[in-house]
Amino acid sequence: MAIPFRQMTYDLGICSLTEGTPDADALGALLAGIDPWKAHGRPASVMADRFRRADPSAGRFAIRAEGEIVGAVVVRFPFLRGAYLETLGLAETARGRGIGRAIIEWMEQEIAGEAANLWLCVTDWNEAARRFYRANGFAEVGLLPDLSVEGMTEVFMRKQL
Ligand SMILES: CC(C)(COP(=O)(O)OP(=O)(O)OC[C@H]1O[C@@H](n2cnc3c(N)ncnc32)[C@H](O)[C@@H]1OP(=O)(O)O)[C@@H](O)C(=O)NCCC(=O)NCCS
Repeated sequence: MAIPFRQMTYDLGICSLTEGTPDADALGALLAGIDPWKAHGRPASVMADRFRRADPSAGRFAIRAEGEIVGAVVVRFPFLRGAYLETLGLAETARGRGIGRAIIEWMEQEIAGEAANLWLCVTDWNEAARRFYRANGFAEVGLLPDLSVEGMTEVFMRKQL
């Protein structure tokens, strides 16, 4: 069986995923320009490094639509009998057309038969993202104060498959 999240490319129909290292700078700049990372005060160079540094347990991808980079996704596997969605961010122009949903479905397909949990953290004031994840089957299972940023709280969410 193929190792989850380890292919160089994935075709999800509505978008494609390409291994993120070659596009580290573009992905870092994209994420640093949008909330929650903008509000977290993460510079583009720090975000870019997340795609460049050696990190064997992470699948890191550019999200592309019609060939253009429209977002980034990072998945950590294995994590707590499942996979952890560490980063999912789309440019504003790419939101609301089903790409986020397709990414969640892709994660489920990748771990099907191997593990039965998806996990993530979302900053508590990020209401739109919390709504999106609830609509996609995630439940809020705990609060993690001061995790990403001192003074901000992350909501830990789980989807049992
Ligand atoms: C949160 C995020 C990843 C969601 O991804 P998305 O692609 O915008 O989400 P989707 O398009 O799948 O779903 C969002 C809404 O669009 C609607 N939608 C989905 N497909 C659609 C389509 N083809 N046409 C019209 N609307 C559609 C969905 O019904 C959904 O609305 P609902 O939540 O009221 O049900 C994205 O908005 C984002 O990157 N936000 C900023 C960064 C962020 O907060 N990331 C999360 C950090 S933890």
